[in-house]
Amino acid sequence: MAEVVVVEDERAAGELVAGSIVSLIRQKPDAVLGLATGSTPLASYRALAARIGAESIDVRGVRGFALDEYVGLPDGHPESYRAVITREVVEPLGLTPELVRVPNGDPATIEHAGADYEAAITAAGGVDLQILGIGRTGHIGFNEPGSSLASLTRVKTLTEPTRVDNARFFDSPEDVPMHCITQGIGTILRARHLVLLAFGDAKAEAVAAAVEGGVSASQPGSAIQLHPHATVIVDEAAASRLANLEYYRHAWANKPAWQGI
Ligand code: F6R
Repeated sequence: MAEVVVVEDERAAGELVAGSIVSLIRQKPDAVLGLATGSTPLASYRALAARIGAESIDVRGVRGFALDEYVGLPDGHPESYRAVITREVVEPLGLTPELVRVPNGDPATIEHAGADYEAAITAAGGVDLQILGIGRTGHIGFNEPGSSLASLTRVKTLTEPTRVDNARFFDSPEDVPMHCITQGIGTILRARHLVLLAFGDAKAEAVAAAVEGGVSASQPGSAIQLHPHATVIVDEAAASRLANLEYYRHAWANKPAWQGI
């Protein structure tokens, strides 16, 4: 079962995630981070940037792989995940740009972009810590309901609810691309530590299904139950539909400090 940690707010979650990544980088200066985009991980990236600055942590060797990318956005589009990762992660953290990859959503090379990305992750020795958000539909990465639990990086069609949710980043809902290239659920499960973050009421159902529902391709987030080291960090609102909430609080309150998340 995933470890569930209920925190006061996104800032507190960010501190926890940043602490875990800082210890990882101290042990492994060329650590491989799995990077989610969207709103959810932003507080974690900010907290991590602050720790890196305050403690002068050398991150020049840290590597990164984004979860996903839209297909067909023009090069340099501000909402392409390449641009978002550069703006929100690479620049504030001071990472080496060449060491941070994003799936290539160029239609000209899309047929082999998934296989290329898988090969790059394997060549890097796999992802050490994968940050995940979760969509209202239950998606992780852009693996919408119905995605194979064994899937690898490939092109997917976004659901309408996901396009509507992501319309806030574009001028209009029609501008949200129909297709994306995303790490598969099988890819995500190969990472050595999964850290899934969720905040707010709108995520409560997806979180409950992921943590306590049956494992099913219909609920892609539920795949985290198959992972031996998955941490779910949620605020009270996102935790509100969890049946075993009191036990999660009890386990966290009594967790040996040396274990970390
Ligand atoms: C982003 C990603 C998605 C988001 C999810 C939640 O790289 O893979 O799974 O994590 O759509 O988005 P936000 O955080 O904007 O609510």
